[in-house]
Amino acid sequence: MKTIELVIDLGSTKTSIHKIGSGLIVNDESRVVVATKNNKMTLLESGKGVERYVRQPVQGCQILNTIDGGVITNERACVCMLKDYISRCMPGNAIIKPKVKVLACVGCGISLTEKKDIEKALNLAGASEVSIIESPLAVAGALGYGRGHFIVDIGSSKTEIAVVGRDGIVAGCSVDIGGDKLTKAIADFMVTNLSSTISFNLAEKIKKDLGSMYEHNNMSMRVNVRKVGSQRIESEIVSSRDIRSVIEPNIIDLLHIIYNMSFQIPDVLAEDILQEGIVLCGGGANLTGLDQYISKFMQMRVYKVEDPTTIVSRGGMYFMENSTDFAKMLNIVNYK
Ligand SMILES: Nc1ncnc2c1ncn2[C@@H]1O[C@H](COP(=O)(O)OP(=O)(O)OP(=O)(O)O)[C@@H](O)[C@H]1O
Ligand SMILES: [Mg+2]
Repeated sequence: MKTIELVIDLGSTKTSIHKIGSGLIVNDESRVVVATKNNKMTLLESGKGVERYVRQPVQGCQILNTIDGGVITNERACVCMLKDYISRCMPGNAIIKPKVKVLACVGCGISLTEKKDIEKALNLAGASEVSIIESPLAVAGALGYGRGHFIVDIGSSKTEIAVVGRDGIVAGCSVDIGGDKLTKAIADFMVTNLSSTISFNLAEKIKKDLGSMYEHNNMSMRVNVRKVGSQRIESEIVSSRDIRSVIEPNIIDLLHIIYNMSFQIPDVLAEDILQEGIVLCGGGANLTGLDQYISKFMQMRVYKVEDPTTIVSRGGMYFMENSTDFAKMLNIVNYK
């Protein structure tokens, strides 16, 4: 029987899937629209298409996020989503369904039970074989496994910070500071400083368009807000200086954790890591000027990878292609 091999990164915002031999097949949102009847859940939409239902809610349909902080938040919805995403990876002309082998990339901080939940969901979605790898290791697979790396992956709900050595993860942690926290801080700022409320989506847009860690950046943007009390819609001007002052405390918290993690770099990896610099990935790496901001504080080169949101599943392919050699050594958990 033919086998397809997939590497899946289950992110809180995005799920990406690389297929061995084909490359990136899925890079879509980790949310679905479902309808439930007689206790049976039916998928109506997954990924980017969900936004249509947010704008125009349909009676009897539920919009559900499937993952938060690398952990499944709704098993049935997650299975529906995974089934749909795995089906996008199937060859179009297959008469007999191929066997599906999956390497799932998870955060450093998740428990064994949570890993088992992911394995179970993947099995229910059609994967017959599931292995699990911690995501900083997958990133190291993309960068060149067998050297030292200092990886900072800023996702939407978590940041993974890890030192990866020649035989796996030397030290790693997962912290509750991610892009969503910055976005919420922007929305809170609008309430406390401008007596205005804005949607999460607008706060995201402000963060991406205006957010900058460069002190000299001072762009501004006019946004439509709802005034607290009167409920009137008015326009307000926000500046990148405002946004920086709001997000900076979170970035400083992150910097302290990065700084502390740097003490875990063993001497034998110091040269590799100094040469390459701190590797910045995840969507949060796209925040303007963040690489230079971290570099200035750490007095080290910071290297922002290309395609920072898909590097985990891309890098995981290295371990899938070399799974027999690396399975034991790399703490890849296979429950079979
Ligand atoms: N230009 C940008 N500036 C600031 N933040 C950005 C930018 N582009 C994307 N982001 C943020 O990146 C985050 C999403 O990153 P990513 O896709 O890596 O998360 P994830 O892997 O789904 O989440 P997690 O790893 O926490 O489960 C969001 O918070 C998003 O706002
Ligand atoms: Mg992620």
